[in-house]
Amino acid sequence: MSDHYAVIGNPVEHSLSPAIHAEFARATGQDVAYTKILAPLDGFEAAARKFFKDGGKGLNVTLPFKRQAWDLVNFPTDAESGYAIDAQAVNTIKLVGEELLGYNTDGLGLIADLERNLVVPIPGKRVLLMGAGGATYGVVHPILVREPGLLVVANRTLDKANQLVAHFQKGRRIAVGELSAKPYDQLSGSQFDIVINATSAGLKNEMPPLPAEVFAPGALAYDMVYGKVTPFLKFAGAHGAQTSDGLGMLVEQAAESFLIWRGVRPATKPVIDLLRREGGGRRAEG
Ligand code: ATR
Repeated sequence: MSDHYAVIGNPVEHSLSPAIHAEFARATGQDVAYTKILAPLDGFEAAARKFFKDGGKGLNVTLPFKRQAWDLVNFPTDAESGYAIDAQAVNTIKLVGEELLGYNTDGLGLIADLERNLVVPIPGKRVLLMGAGGATYGVVHPILVREPGLLVVANRTLDKANQLVAHFQKGRRIAVGELSAKPYDQLSGSQFDIVINATSAGLKNEMPPLPAEVFAPGALAYDMVYGKVTPFLKFAGAHGAQTSDGLGMLVEQAAESFLIWRGVRPATKPVIDLLRREGGGRRAEG
């Protein structure tokens, strides 16, 4: 019998994870089955426990359960376990013996897409991250580990950005001197090499109130929404930036999950190319 994995969320019907993992399994010759679980909004833990009781080996967790998954799991002791601990969100669970181990691969997925696929290395770069919700929490630590010259978190509600910075300073697992919070109207006069939109604005065809001069010459503008050209990407393109949606991040975070479960990291480019031919309009960490 195939080893059973699934994505659990609510809603979950539009998830591309089953298609992505089926491709990974085919390409790597792994005998896995990957399904979707729609858990009731108040029934995440029961549904997850039942999945593992019935023989399931691993889960991807998507909105709105990533925080509850964080409460459910233990954390592995390898170097990257801190990503999930600090993010306060778990998107990958692996059953090891009797224990549920939790990981967050969203940040590694973003880094892989930026550095390998788009060939934009983070070390020394000035990075602007927009938004201070769960999507931002998931990627802050992996970005900081890559030693950007500067990481600024901008948010409409400044208080939330300040809380985020305080959270990562409190943990003190990483150097945080280069991390700061700013309101959008204080970005005028600053320039960034990488501008990442981790807000949900693009899903609503909105964009954060970003001054046009933030894009340094040759800057990359990255939106974690995929499958559509968001207002932010249009704006960035019109002001000279190179642009990318979040499809690569979606596939790369899935590849990191597959690696955790199966010990092999599948090639991602064929799957990105395959999905690129299809439409969407969702967010890569979702
Ligand atoms: P998630 O956990 O999925 O990131 P969230 O916690 O609701 O979702 O956060 C959404 C983020 O998108 C927030 O940072 C939000 O800004 P506020 O904290 O000020 O609400 C941001 N956001 C959503 N729509 C936006 C818009 N039109 N302009 C700017 N920021 C927006």
